[in-house]
Amino acid sequence: MFVDRAEEVAELRALADRGRPALAILYGRRRVGKTYLLRHAWAGRRLFYFLAADLPPDRNRRELLREMAAWSGNAVDPDDYPTWRTVFRLLVQLAAREPLIVVLDEFQYLLRDAEDDAASQLVAVWDREVGDSRLVLALCGSEVATMRALAAGDAPLYGRASWSAASTRSATTPPPRWSRTSAVATRR
Ligand SMILES: Nc1ncnc2c1ncn2[C@@H]1O[C@H](COP(=O)(O)OP(=O)(O)O)[C@@H](O)[C@H]1O
Ligand SMILES: [Mg+2]
Repeated sequence: MFVDRAEEVAELRALADRGRPALAILYGRRRVGKTYLLRHAWAGRRLFYFLAADLPPDRNRRELLREMAAWSGNAVDPDDYPTWRTVFRLLVQLAAREPLIVVLDEFQYLLRDAEDDAASQLVAVWDREVGDSRLVLALCGSEVATMRALAAGDAPLYGRASWSAASTRSATTPPPRWSRTSAVATRR
């Protein structure tokens, strides 16, 4: 069964075409089609995709940097990026001259470090350094409660997402409808 996600695809493409930094948040249970949507919507774009594993955030950070080195062809020494703040700064720099989409999939696995909280480090960089960069950053996750809490009223990322969508339905309950929790282009 093909599930038509034409609206979501169009919105995600529009988000990437705006030429402005944007944050997208997408969550829902496993197998509802999150990864497929992001891959499909942004196929052919300059895109770095990272799938976090159920490992300590620090291990994920080092793996992300290794994959970034391979993807970009640049030397990226994980020791030079010891915190999430330095990683997000690197992403912003990579989007300084050319548009860049970064998908951080299963993002909830990056949030388990009390000493180096990825969400608040992201906000620190986003608010002060994202500037004129062309970074579109998509945070995607299957742990619904954690992902929902990420952008809630008392959370660091509150009000930052230009686009967000959620599906709380099971993939086996047809049709797996999603609801957009904020529309594209209404805010930065
Ligand atoms: N729009 C769609 N139409 C048909 N099949 C889809 C669609 N989206 C996802 N799928 C398929 O459903 C399965 C789960 O999708 P996936 O994107 O991996 O889910 P998630 O990332 O939410 O766990 C995959 O086999 C994928 O190819
Ligand atoms: Mg997935």
